[in-house]
Amino acid sequence: MSSITQQKATGSHYTPPELARFLSERIVAQVDFCPLSKMRILDPACGDGELLVALAEALPNNILRNSIFTGIEIDSSSIEKAEERLGAFLSKSNRLKKMDFLERYIGLEGQVGLFANSPSKPVDIVIANPPYVRTQNLGAHKAQMLSRAFGLKGRIDLYQVFVVAMTQCLKDNGIIGIITSNRFISTRSGASIRKFIAEQYEIVELIDLGDTKLFEAAVLPAILIARKVPEASRFLLKSRTQSRFVRIYESRTRTHLAKPTKVDSVYDVLKRKSDGEYLVSTTRFRLSTGVLSFANSSSEPWQMLTASEKKWIDKINSAAKCRISDLVKVRVGIKTTADLVFIRSDWNDVPEDRRPERCLLRPIFSHDDAGRWRSCTERTSLKKIGISITGLNSSAN
Ligand SMILES: C[S@@+](CC[C@H](N)C(=O)[O-])C[C@H]1O[C@@H](n2cnc3c(N)ncnc32)[C@H](O)[C@@H]1O
Repeated sequence: MSSITQQKATGSHYTPPELARFLSERIVAQVDFCPLSKMRILDPACGDGELLVALAEALPNNILRNSIFTGIEIDSSSIEKAEERLGAFLSKSNRLKKMDFLERYIGLEGQVGLFANSPSKPVDIVIANPPYVRTQNLGAHKAQMLSRAFGLKGRIDLYQVFVVAMTQCLKDNGIIGIITSNRFISTRSGASIRKFIAEQYEIVELIDLGDTKLFEAAVLPAILIARKVPEASRFLLKSRTQSRFVRIYESRTRTHLAKPTKVDSVYDVLKRKSDGEYLVSTTRFRLSTGVLSFANSSSEPWQMLTASEKKWIDKINSAAKCRISDLVKVRVGIKTTADLVFIRSDWNDVPEDRRPERCLLRPIFSHDDAGRWRSCTERTSLKKIGISITGLNSSAN
């Protein structure tokens, strides 16, 4: 297997140390520490241990001494590296295990074996960057078996299954802090996992890292920090109003009124309290924050709208005769601003080893094909959009 094929099959995009530190600090800020009790911490896809190391460094010393870390990883060379890195501070009670995290939950009939083989005690913290593997790369049979076993519907990606399995390992009121694709927030295929998260968790913070390029995976990442709600209190989730969102995207509009604030890194932007434009080196980013709004139906995306954006959308809706979605089906989820997503009309001329799989190339109808009050169907372009992880020249034409 080539390393790219291997990466696609196992979803192994490792977390950069700064992102691991940022996630760990956000998790630690949410935990109610009780100095005398043992903290149990799990990374179910720990790779070479980056997240466990970062969390250990973020924990107060007196808590770290009493903590038990469990790292699970399917790949033997990664787990060996994790052992080397974590050996320095892990006590005997800490465990790094080479195993398939999901298999331990699935019985022969594809039923989830609730805690039959799971870590002996539920954990206080789950930290993870679970593998992102698309349904296509999982294979139809495995995808169907996993979605049945974990009670998900529709086209599922592997990270969604991990979210369900990780939740089963977490204590009531435990904290989960994960890095995932941001696609589940808004896509149709994310409906099932949105429903699951909304029913089980109080979302503390959802950070859409947009096109910040903090991460080399072809998908755009998001961070979810959430508290697992005990079953008896879940009815309260219906009236939730306090889930904070943070959104950061490169700002390309050239009509900026205000001068951007200069900061050292994207992480410094994320720590800022006020919305606005920030300059990191030569790149300008827009930070938007607000309260996440959950639709009544899980098939609707979660909305990350600032107060002024909401006002603007309400105004448009009240004045419009109809919306595009009343006429045609709109698919949300394509982010052409990511470096590794390309739009071009000459895909056939790209060497085969650098061309995305056919199923990843989709016709695209965009603002170039539409005019005011009508679509210019007579000049619908031959453009196709595709994702490539081999770094093609980004000459969109
Ligand atoms: C996105 S990487 C994250 C690694 C590490 N936690 C980090 O953040 O740098 C996902 C890891 O999950 C591992 N993995 C994939 N499928 C797995 C499974 N079924 N059980 C356990 N680990 C798995 C991959 O080998 C890879 O190391």
